[in-house]
Amino acid sequence: MSDKTMNLTLKIWRQKDAKSAGKLESYPISGISEHMSFLEMMDVFNEQQISAGNEPVAFDHDCREGICGSCSLQINGEAHGPDRRVTTCQLHMRMFKDGDTITIEPFRATAFPVIKDLVVDRTSFDRIQHAGGFVSVNTSGNTQDANSLPVPKVDADNAFDAATCIGCGACVASCKNASAMLFVSAKVSQFALLPQGKVEAKDRVLNMVNQMDLEGFGNCTNTGACEVECPKGISLDNIARMNREYMKAAIKKD
Ligand code: SF4
Ligand code: FES
Repeated sequence: MSDKTMNLTLKIWRQKDAKSAGKLESYPISGISEHMSFLEMMDVFNEQQISAGNEPVAFDHDCREGICGSCSLQINGEAHGPDRRVTTCQLHMRMFKDGDTITIEPFRATAFPVIKDLVVDRTSFDRIQHAGGFVSVNTSGNTQDANSLPVPKVDADNAFDAATCIGCGACVASCKNASAMLFVSAKVSQFALLPQGKVEAKDRVLNMVNQMDLEGFGNCTNTGACEVECPKGISLDNIARMNREYMKAAIKKD
């Protein structure tokens, strides 16, 4: 396997803490293999910074397999970078070429304040989940046989697709309004489509949308940037479904 290496310039957002002003700083980096993942390139960068006695750059990561939703970099103006249907940890350096300048920033949104460098606080998503993103069933010792509750195949497939949302926040970072509608609609849809989710459906959608608004996310204006940048291909159809669920719940709520 050939191994082309690249010399690059990284422009990285450096910010000491949540209260300090941040700015982009430029760093040259050399000998980067096209086979590295983006985060491996960041690891090499940090090793070089530590060796030179400089502070490494802080960035979020965990699984490095596109599962956990931790990694969250705005790369050359795009959430998760220039590839499609991948997270930052799945992005490869072969997407770039020798001599490129790569601008690396945190996900930008009022509801995602910067903690340090490239790390943002996404606990607003956790609070939205806590407001209704669950099913209150007793699963201890009385789990039903899966076949006892028939679910139409199309509903099961759509619920599964919605459930693949990893809560990364790229939809928010890509939206000109910093709207969280794609994320919230995926979480609402994965339950709304299944019989197990119907019992608490009204409270769920009202409470989750209310919390979304309280957190300071913007409104959806159907631009669709969220769907384009979502690493899991979450469809805008979920937003339409959530709006219908919300209207039904708001009208029928007693
Ligand atoms: S909808 Fe897509 S972009 Fe938004 S949090 Fe879920 S996986 Fe990430
Ligand atoms: S580190 Fe888990 S999705 Fe990227």
